[in-house]
Amino acid sequence: MTDLEQKEEDVKEPEVSPVEEGREIGAWERLLGCTWRTPLGFLGVTLTTVSITLIVLGLIAHLSGLISNHYFAIFIFLFLPGMMMLGLGLIPLAYYFRQKKWFKDSLLNVEHLKIDLADKHHRKGIILFLVLSVINVTVLVLVAYEGYHFTDSSYFCGVVCHEVMDPEYTAYQRSPHAKVPCVSCHIGPGADWYVRAKLSGLRQVKAVIDGEFSRPIPAPVEHLRPARDTCESCHWPEKFHGKRVKEFISYTNNNQTDPNVQEVALRIGGRNPVTNDFEGIHWHVSRDIKVEYQPLDEKRTKIGTVKVTRPGGITEEYALNDEPAEEGVSQEWRTMDCIDCHNRPTHVYDDLERVVDFGLHSQKLNPEIKGIREDSIAILQIEYTSRDEATEKIVGDLLERMAKRHGADFVAEHQKELVISGSYLLEVYLNNVWPKMKVTWGTYRQHLGHQNADEGYGCFRCHDDEHKTKFGKIIRQDCNMCHDEPQ
Ligand code: HEC
Ligand code: HEC
Ligand code: HEC
Ligand code: HEC
Ligand code: HEC
Repeated sequence: MTDLEQKEEDVKEPEVSPVEEGREIGAWERLLGCTWRTPLGFLGVTLTTVSITLIVLGLIAHLSGLISNHYFAIFIFLFLPGMMMLGLGLIPLAYYFRQKKWFKDSLLNVEHLKIDLADKHHRKGIILFLVLSVINVTVLVLVAYEGYHFTDSSYFCGVVCHEVMDPEYTAYQRSPHAKVPCVSCHIGPGADWYVRAKLSGLRQVKAVIDGEFSRPIPAPVEHLRPARDTCESCHWPEKFHGKRVKEFISYTNNNQTDPNVQEVALRIGGRNPVTNDFEGIHWHVSRDIKVEYQPLDEKRTKIGTVKVTRPGGITEEYALNDEPAEEGVSQEWRTMDCIDCHNRPTHVYDDLERVVDFGLHSQKLNPEIKGIREDSIAILQIEYTSRDEATEKIVGDLLERMAKRHGADFVAEHQKELVISGSYLLEVYLNNVWPKMKVTWGTYRQHLGHQNADEGYGCFRCHDDEHKTKFGKIIRQDCNMCHDEPQ
């Protein structure tokens, strides 16, 4: 006998009188009528009734815009339906225990459990059951529909796991994709990826509750959906054409006023109208080409053999001289896609020096103040213990350093400009550093060019003049293959 049954035993058995108000009470009525009087059944009925009432009220408040608090939405769309389902599950369970017991005590046999539509009471009971079921199902469908949209919103992804997703959400909000929902890139269309994402989402929620997630969250994302299914619903390689000119502006500590301007015209790529070949940077992802590679480390910063399949199935393999793969790195071929270059299309973190130079260029850091470049870089590198501490101290730290350099009078005289400069540094810090998540300058670097080639980022992972075919053909590093020769 289970504990539950034991407990039921203690409850006073309701009178099983065969006659009430002059008519006979059927086995069904006795069975159902008593079920909710057991502790388990009572709990089930109460849970269901209370949750469904709150859900209906909550839905009205939510849909009418009366309450738009997101924690409220979590309560209505996740917590209450869970309680309601639990309640609904308890009722048949209670019924089951009750029935089993009655069979055992021979109060009931299968003969009694006939449904007789000619019986008025049975008809009433069935109608009541159907009406209640319709109400329950309607409420659940409504909640599931609203909940589906809610759990797919960028807000849910970015804010509900606040501490964990804060870096990604912040970077995302100031990127070109700020209006593209997280799920367009992370899940994409189709039911199977949706289900996979929700399942892994459940695991992640558990990890967050247990506090057992990695800090920082590792990139590359292990099971990111191939970009062909996601990015290409908005950008498709066949439409690329021409060049894109980018300007890179930099200063030095000794020269904060005359920028060094480097212009590069990038050969974005596209179909050559004469030969109909796809050329240029997006050649790697053009329709008739497949580039695959074997990474030598988890972060894909070292690339081993590269395999190119051209139209007609002709393949070429470029191998690197006997560099071994790190232990535990899967040697499966990875098909190169958008993410192998655009690994930061939306979670864009700044480069420390570049962002200080941008400050000087936009006059947010006053370039007339000597030493401000050097001091700014030093301040942004201080390891504050928290974002709150940085918020408290950064402006003061700049004033202090400036006072050391130029004296207190200078600081008093230029107080206003220095505070503006300090505020810029704080803003930049808050966009890029999360001490709790161990996210700081350089944690997440991008692969687009070759500024961080020495750390294994960018095009030169393959374009290093060292990956060779058996015939000695190399993946080249000619400057003007990718862009016009810089001045
Ligand atoms: C434009 C497409 C796009 C959108 C929109 C997008 N992401 Fe990402 N996200 C990516 C890509 C691509 C990566 C993989 C980077 C890698 O593998 O190196 C990534 C990586 C991540 C990571 C792993 C850590 C990291 O920075 O690499 C997290 C966490 C994440 N995204 C969360 C979010 C959240 C939350 C949102 C919505 C607020 C969002 N993403 C919106 C494309 C996107
Ligand atoms: C839902 C549509 C959508 C999806 C999905 C999407 N993008 Fe975009 N992407 C945009 C829009 C809109 C812009 C902004 C265009 C503009 O500002 O001119 C953009 C801009 C860009 C840019 C140019 C940024 C710049 O510096 O100007 C790149 C690169 C890019 N996307 C790459 C990607 C990659 C890689 C993915 C997949 C991980 C992706 N996008 C997924 C809509 C999308
Ligand atoms: C071999 C590396 C590489 C691959 C693979 C790649 N891109 Fe690019 N893409 C670049 C570079 C480099 C640029 C130009 C630099 C920049 O915009 O900062 C660029 C520019 C872009 C732009 C802006 C174009 C413009 O005209 O301004 C978009 C949009 C884009 N890529 C989307 C994609 C998508 C979508 C994919 C996958 C189908 C993809 N890229 C694959 C390297 C790549
Ligand atoms: C995974 C390795 C790999 C990476 C990373 C890579 N490439 Fe390539 N790239 C190749 C291979 C292989 C070829 C073909 C070489 C050949 O045919 O001579 C190629 C060819 C090219 C070509 C010539 C295409 C044509 O017109 O035929 C350009 C341009 C190019 N890459 C630009 C880039 C840029 C820009 C980046 C970084 C944003 C980059 N590549 C990153 C492997 C790579
Ligand atoms: C495989 C393609 C490729 C090759 C080869 C290449 N570059 Fe670049 N380079 C790029 C891309 C892509 C960018 C743009 C990066 C970005 O958008 O942030 C760039 C940016 C630059 C910049 C401006 C950024 C900076 O660091 O100041 C300079 C300068 C530059 N390249 C010089 C060269 C020189 C010199 C060579 C020849 C030794 C060369 N590049 C070869 C792809 C290439």
